[in-house]
This record gives sequence, C-alpha cells and structure tokens, in this order.
Amino acid sequence: MVCLGNICRSPLAEGILQHKAEEAGLDWTIDSAGTAGYHIGEQPHKLSQKVALLNGVDISRQQCRQFVKQDMARFDLIFVMDNDNYAEVKRISGNEWEGSKVRLLLDMLYPGENKEVPDPWYGTEKDYHLVFDMVSRACEKIIENYR
Ligand code: 4NP
Repeated sequence: MVCLGNICRSPLAEGILQHKAEEAGLDWTIDSAGTAGYHIGEQPHKLSQKVALLNGVDISRQQCRQFVKQDMARFDLIFVMDNDNYAEVKRISGNEWEGSKVRLLLDMLYPGENKEVPDPWYGTEKDYHLVFDMVSRACEKIIENYR
C-alpha cells in the first residue's frame, strides 16, 4: 500500500487489509510505504490512528518508511492511492518497474474510472473517516478477488 507520506492513507490501508486478511485466515505479507521521505520513522497520523481504532484496527505500531525500488520485486501487488503515487512508484522503481503489479486501490471498486483516495492531510477527522470507509471497501474486494 503506497501513498505520498506513509502517514495518513497507506497506514490505514495496511492496517485494514492486515485485519481483514487475518479474519479470513490468509497468511499474506502486507506492508506500506510512502513515495516521499518527510516522515520516516514516525507513527501514523494521530487521526489515522484514532479512526482506525474506532473501527477496531490498531495501527499504532506501524513506522513510516519510504518506497524503495526493491519493493517492486518483493511484492506481488502494489496498490497506490492516487495517480501521483503511481508516477512516483514508476520513477523510483527504474529498471525494476513491473506495471502489471501496480494498481490504483479504488480500481478494485471502480475499475477503469481512475478514482483516487483523497489526501486527508489538510482535512478534518471527517476526511479520515471517508478514507477509512473507501479503503475498507476496496480491501474487502482485494480479499474476495485474490484469496
Ligand atoms: P499521506 O498524506 O500521503 O496520505 O500520508 C500526506 C502526509 C504528509 C504529507 C502529505 C500528504 N506531507 O506533505 O508531509
């Protein structure tokens, strides 16, 4: 799961998919990263942590890291939150780039519609709830499609 800062959206996506995979008895390796390095080593944003916990998902032990080109080979699927993330993952991956592994997360719900998970960074708690709900529905589809 990849976003810009690995502080708001992708930590939620990692926590939600991990939670749903465990519930489904799936032994998947799930991780998240940011294309930028502004917050390396930090915990997820307070509001991402709060909204996750209100929904029964504890993301407090996650630590922000930056996407590296080796991630392209390490993972079978890479979900990005928006088109900028897609372009940055492509740039960072360089000669490791495998476009068939990389998808917009909301393509799981709205295939081909080019929908993005909005960045809640400058928003309020309400925006984090909106992100939680759309990411959660997309993660249910991931479980359905790839289990
Ligand atoms: P995220 O949100 O990509 O969902 O983690 C952001 C987090 C931090 C910044 C921008 C977006 N920032 O500019 O520091």
